[in-house]
Amino acid sequence: MKENVQSTLGKFKMEKSPYMHRLRWHSPIVKLTFWSFVFLGLILVFFFRSPSTSSPLGSDVSRRSLSTNSWGGPAWEKRVRSSAKVRSRNGISVLVTGAAGFVGTHVSAALKRRGDGVLGLDNFNDYYDPTLKRARQALLERSGVYIVEGDINDKALLEKLFEVVAFTHVMHLAAQAGVRYAMVNPGSYIHSNIAGFVSLLEVCKSANPQPAIVWASSSSVYGLNTKVPFSEKDRTDQPASLYAATKKAGEEIAHTYNHIYGLSLTGLRFFTVYGPWGRPDMAYFFFTKDILKGKSIQIFEAANHGTVARDFTYIDDIVKGCLASLDTAEKSTGSGGKKKGPAQLRVFNLGNTSPVPVTNLVNILERLLKVKAKKSIMKLPRNGDVQFTHANISSARRELGYKPSTDLQTGLKKFVKWYLSYYGEGKKSAK
Ligand SMILES: NC(=O)c1ccc[n+]([C@@H]2O[C@H](COP(=O)([O-])OP(=O)(O)OC[C@H]3O[C@@H](n4cnc5c(N)ncnc54)[C@H](O)[C@@H]3O)[C@@H](O)[C@H]2O)c1
Repeated sequence: MKENVQSTLGKFKMEKSPYMHRLRWHSPIVKLTFWSFVFLGLILVFFFRSPSTSSPLGSDVSRRSLSTNSWGGPAWEKRVRSSAKVRSRNGISVLVTGAAGFVGTHVSAALKRRGDGVLGLDNFNDYYDPTLKRARQALLERSGVYIVEGDINDKALLEKLFEVVAFTHVMHLAAQAGVRYAMVNPGSYIHSNIAGFVSLLEVCKSANPQPAIVWASSSSVYGLNTKVPFSEKDRTDQPASLYAATKKAGEEIAHTYNHIYGLSLTGLRFFTVYGPWGRPDMAYFFFTKDILKGKSIQIFEAANHGTVARDFTYIDDIVKGCLASLDTAEKSTGSGGKKKGPAQLRVFNLGNTSPVPVTNLVNILERLLKVKAKKSIMKLPRNGDVQFTHANISSARRELGYKPSTDLQTGLKKFVKWYLSYYGEGKKSAK
């Protein structure tokens, strides 16, 4: 053995000799090295080609490719123009991001109903059942709203949209929502809520004319705040989740683009929105599904049996707040990336002002569904949820004329009616 090694090393040394080529292919160590490289190469090819499953950031990128869909061409532009065409006197032309989402669908439909031009944009990601997003898309399609399939990080697409339509307003609702999913896929929050928002603002600031922007922040920015009801003047520097941190970052980013480029920006802090066509990851939605299936539901309680409560806000009230924000938004003051004067910068709470304990929510659902829920009481985990939310809406009332009018009982009745007709017997089941 030793002899072999020595002889191999000896042959290796001879590589510089004139016999190099002949020796290379006949030496066992050279053959071994050659095949090792081939083997290593195959392993590398395998790893680089397969999508990452271990890294949340990697899975995010593979799931949300920016260029999966084709856009452009005369027929596509015609469709975009037609959807965004204003059909009423004094109407506005709005780009709605996240239009296939829960709030986006309702806002788009309401704008279209009153004769505004509406173009949707959504990447139809699979954070929750995409067939629900497709059903919302079909609903909007019937009322004349076209949703372009694309990502807000796709700058070329955004620029094209602004080239085809001179949008007067942007209603920015696209985001990675949900609090707990941040522990599974943190990268998706950075991708949509931070990078995506900046990408959109970059295109808006360079547009000529610049649009006015209304966008969804969240009540979650109040984080560990204990002073109630939450007012816009309260501190928002203690986020309890990555989701909340990205929304807070969005508010700071909005300030910057307003300050430097004169963009008119209005941030809306929504409080637990619910209603028909809602989001399957929210408690009222999956409680309904599980109660109907006879599955046990987990109800959280805070320390010392403290009540967990939410300021549930019905979707129609949120839509009214969004439309009023668009209607009262002043024009941006810049053009072509240059600020010409100070521009409007606003933040509003949009809530219902009456927090309801989650146990009451379950009682109402039991009555509406006529099924007794199997409940298990659990300690509120410290993974993003806060104990209660409660909105002070005096600012929105004063400046937007915002006045929520649907109580939880009435709103849930409408939700349950929709749920049963959408997922009812013989139809699809909620995933
Ligand atoms: N529903 C609530 O209770 C609530 C509360 C506070 C704040 N908000 C905010 O309101 C907005 C709307 O929420 P929702 O409940 O309708 O959520 P949703 O998830 O139903 O809608 C968001 C939509 O945005 C799309 N989207 C996500 N990332 C995108 C990207 N990078 N490019 C293009 N499209 C993308 C999604 O596919 C989805 O259809 C979000 O900004 C959310 O954070 C909602």
